[in-house]
Amino acid sequence: MNVLGIETSCDETACSIVNKEGKVLSSVVYSQIEMHNKFGGIVPELASRDHALKIESVVEGALKQAGLKASDITHVGVTAGPGLLGCLLVGIAFGKAFAMAKNIPFIGVDHIKAHVLAVFIKGDGAKEEPKFPFVGLVVSGGHTSIYLAESYENIKSVAVTVDDAAGEVFDKVARFIGLGYPGGKIVSDIAKKGDPLKVKFPKPVVKGREHDFSFSGLKTSAINYFRKLSIDGVFDLEKPELVNGLAGFQEAVCGVLVEKLIVAARKYKVKDIVIGGGVASNYRLRELLTEQALMNGFKPWLVPVEYCTDNGAMIANTARLIKDSYPNKFTDEMAKLAAYSTTRK
Ligand code: KG4
Ligand code: ZN
Repeated sequence: MNVLGIETSCDETACSIVNKEGKVLSSVVYSQIEMHNKFGGIVPELASRDHALKIESVVEGALKQAGLKASDITHVGVTAGPGLLGCLLVGIAFGKAFAMAKNIPFIGVDHIKAHVLAVFIKGDGAKEEPKFPFVGLVVSGGHTSIYLAESYENIKSVAVTVDDAAGEVFDKVARFIGLGYPGGKIVSDIAKKGDPLKVKFPKPVVKGREHDFSFSGLKTSAINYFRKLSIDGVFDLEKPELVNGLAGFQEAVCGVLVEKLIVAARKYKVKDIVIGGGVASNYRLRELLTEQALMNGFKPWLVPVEYCTDNGAMIANTARLIKDSYPNKFTDEMAKLAAYSTTRK
């Protein structure tokens, strides 16, 4: 079994091949970041056009890196949603054509569930894995949700953000300071040099929905704090107030993520806690979760950093795990996408 996974939901054209055990045989990620950087965010039309230009060479690259031919591929998995429609369609069309030409199964993959199930990728030869049921936090540029995973197929959302996603808030604060896009990694690199206790930001609470997240208030107070540090819109990135401010901001975001995750683990009586998604590559979130989970008697599982941000391995891996369970998922997802594109004005 060699599963080819394709990811084109946003700004990465990615392809990977995993085998039956979940070992990654190849992983190629082409990032469009440079192209979108000057706009301060993703331009959907540019993104889908660039996927169309790059998809073929990225898939060829993944085959070459694995030392395989197209005829060695036994299954094709592709992100079917959620994501930008024009971007998704590039991967879906390419993957479907590949599967039809080789007469092999095509599996539509849910991008968010793939972030959770990325914990089962055997990139480093790890043998241990979390046991169902577990709670998983997917924290990225578009999502901040806690899931209760009862099996590979049964993964349901139990907490969501009522406004911004955590990654989005990192990106917006970074953009305000002029750090470029996406800003999460740049913010965390600066924050690492600061003292997280010097500048405190209010803990975000959602009245009446204590399990859910809210980040827009924290974003506003962070931006108001940083505004005072600018001189004619320019920021001194060495200034202690700025460095400590970013450390305090990062601490507030990561603190609330971990706190609610521990509450959810307790509520659903699970032992294992998983984190995945782009923001899960943040060193402070990884440290805090490890520390707090162990202190409270839970077992933390961190998706390896290289599989936190969008990649093809998480898609191939999910297709590997769900393949027998709902091979028709693609049809359902496409029906949803078609309805979306025709009803939206
Ligand atoms: O999962 P991902 O690659 O794409 C989405 O599905 O959104 O996540 C991208 C997000 C961006 O918002 C980016 O700023 C954030 O993950 N991110 C980080 C870090 N690395 C990436 N946020 C905080 N700290 C990081 N080290
Ligand atoms: Zn993602």
